Formats: sequence, structure tokens, C-alpha cells
Amino acid sequence: MKILGIESSCDECSAAVVENGENILSNVIATQIPFHAAYKGVVPEIASRKHTEWIYDIVSRSLTEANLTARDIDGVAASSQPGLGGSLLVGFTFGKAFAYARQLPFIACDHMLSHLYAARLSGERPAYPFLGLLASGGHTIICKVDDFDKVSVLGTSIDDAIGEAFDKIAKHFGWAYPGGQYIDEAARQGDAAAFAFPLANLHKGDHRYDVSYSGLKTAVINQLEQFRKKGAAGEINGPDIAASFQKAAFEILLRALFNAVEDSGITTIVLGGGVVANSYLRASLAARTGLHCIFPEPSLCGDNGAMVAGIAYQYLSRGIRSPLDSTVCSRVKAFKRRYP
Ligand code: KG4
Ligand code: ZN
Repeated sequence: MKILGIESSCDECSAAVVENGENILSNVIATQIPFHAAYKGVVPEIASRKHTEWIYDIVSRSLTEANLTARDIDGVAASSQPGLGGSLLVGFTFGKAFAYARQLPFIACDHMLSHLYAARLSGERPAYPFLGLLASGGHTIICKVDDFDKVSVLGTSIDDAIGEAFDKIAKHFGWAYPGGQYIDEAARQGDAAAFAFPLANLHKGDHRYDVSYSGLKTAVINQLEQFRKKGAAGEINGPDIAASFQKAAFEILLRALFNAVEDSGITTIVLGGGVVANSYLRASLAARTGLHCIFPEPSLCGDNGAMVAGIAYQYLSRGIRSPLDSTVCSRVKAFKRRYP
């Protein structure tokens, strides 16, 4: 079964064809980053306009690269939530129109469940239940996963998402958006013990699996500002600050994750989302004994159509499809503790 998957929740316009939920035949990803760069963040109006200009071409390319035509497709899937409403609507509406024109089943896919599915496209099939760790620009979620679509949120960020903290700090360094990868690169040259940034005082009681990033973000930004005020801009050791921040950011996340491991006894962890491309996180978890951590390929950590087409196969093969009058939702209403 060949499924066309469309992802347009934020600033990547992507379409992919995946066979039987695992075999990627094509995965075209066009980033809008250069169009948002001057604003140091994604401008929703620009994002939806670019999706509208590009979506036809991106879907066409995904078929061509898979050596297929529209007639070979057995189902169409698109991200429906969460994300930028206008951006989601473009890919979602295009997908529904494609499905209607070809009389194909349509599947609306949750973006975070799709991120969780991405690791499966690398060939791993972990047995349920496992723990999920989702870390992206908009969300930080630790969850228990009982099936591809049965996820209970154990913990989340009580303020900023981890990717948001990376991006805001990178912005203060003057680095381009999104800055996570620049912090990752700079940190490789830095000393992670150079600065002792505060770790959120959570991880107990009701917040045992929760994380917080606003305190850490403010501390790092204040440190940068202090250097600047002293007129010692040239003396700012960017790599040391980046490395110390990164270490603290992941320590906060891993404390919450390890609490969940300890309490649940579950040692298989599936990771997903743009932030899990981070080389320090991958190395830290690889070095940790007693855990089976499954990462998507770095190219499948960020937003992509393949994860959408992949998870859609799980729905379609169980006879589940979405009505053509379904629509998108920018936020997930039931996101706090129960998901979806
Ligand atoms: O999943 P994603 O592509 O989009 C959302 O759904 O948000 O995640 C994007 C986030 C951005 O905050 C970006 O800075 C971060 O992932 N990111 C990284 C790295 N690569 C991307 N953060 C840390 N280290 C990286 N190597
Ligand atoms: Zn995402």
C-alpha cells in the first residue's frame, strides 16, 4: 500500500510516498527558512503563502522521485494538528482535494504522533509499551506509548519548549533561526563545565516528569548580556556558554525521563522531533547502559512527509479513515495530560 503523506504544519513544505508504513520511496522536504530568517522566527502569514506557492510542485516531485503517478497512490495523509493554522490548512486541503479527485481514502494525522513514528522508518519495531520523548520547537513531551495512536502524556514543559529555548538563546548569540543546530555545533568546541546554569527545581511530586526552560533561558541570556555590558563582547566564549547551556537543557530533560523509566520500569525509549537530532543528546543516551533508545535518522527528526505517510498506513490498514469535512486545529485541546 503506497501512501502519499503531506506535512505543512510550520515552515517545512514536505511530501513523501511510503510503502506499507516503512519503506520510504520519496521524501521531498523544502524549507522556508531563508524567507523567515530576517524576522528571526517563523512569520505565519509568509509560511502559509509559501506553502500555497510550493505544495503542488512538492507533491509532484514526491511522485516523480518515487517513480510513480497519482494513479499508483492508495491513500493520502496530511498533518492536521498541532501547528500554524494557516500552514496546516494548505497541506491538509491539498491532501483532501487529491484524495477526492482520485477517490482515495484520506487520513488526518497528528503531528506529534507522526514524530513518534519517525524512528520506525529507520527499521526498528519496538514492542509496546515504550516511553516516548518528543522534543521539538513547540513541544516537549514525555509519554507512555501503548500503541501507535495510544499515548498518555506523563510530563511536559510547564513553560517554554526545549527547542524554543535553543532558538531564543541562539538568537541572542546573533545566530540564524532556527538556532538549535548552531548551538549543537558550537558546543562541540566548548567546555560544558564552564558555567553552572540553574536546573529547574521540578522533578518531584506532581511535576516528577515535567520540565521547565524559562529560568535556564533567562540565566543564559543574562550571562550573555553581562558580558556585553562589560564591553567585553570579544571575550564572550560562545562555545563554553553553548556547551554549558546544552548540558543543563538535556539534564533537565533526562532527569524527567529517568524518573519515568524508574517509576514505569520501561527501558525502551523512542525519540522524535527536531531537537533529538542533537549530537550531545544522542551521545549521552548511547553511553547510558540499561536503556534501549531508538532515534530516527537525523534527516527524519525534523518535520517531514514520510512520518505522516508512515503512521497513516497504521490507520488505513486497520480500516480507519478521516471524513473529507474534517479540518485542522492549531493547538491540541486535550494535550495537557491525556493525548490525543
Ligand atoms: O520538529 P521540528 O523540526 O519542528 C517542530 O515541530 O517544532 O523541530 C524544530 C526544532 C527547532 O527548535 C530547532 O532549533 C531544533 O528543532 N533543532 C535542534 C537541532 N536541530 C534542530 N536543537 C538542538 N540541536 C540540534 N542539532
Ligand atoms: Zn515537528
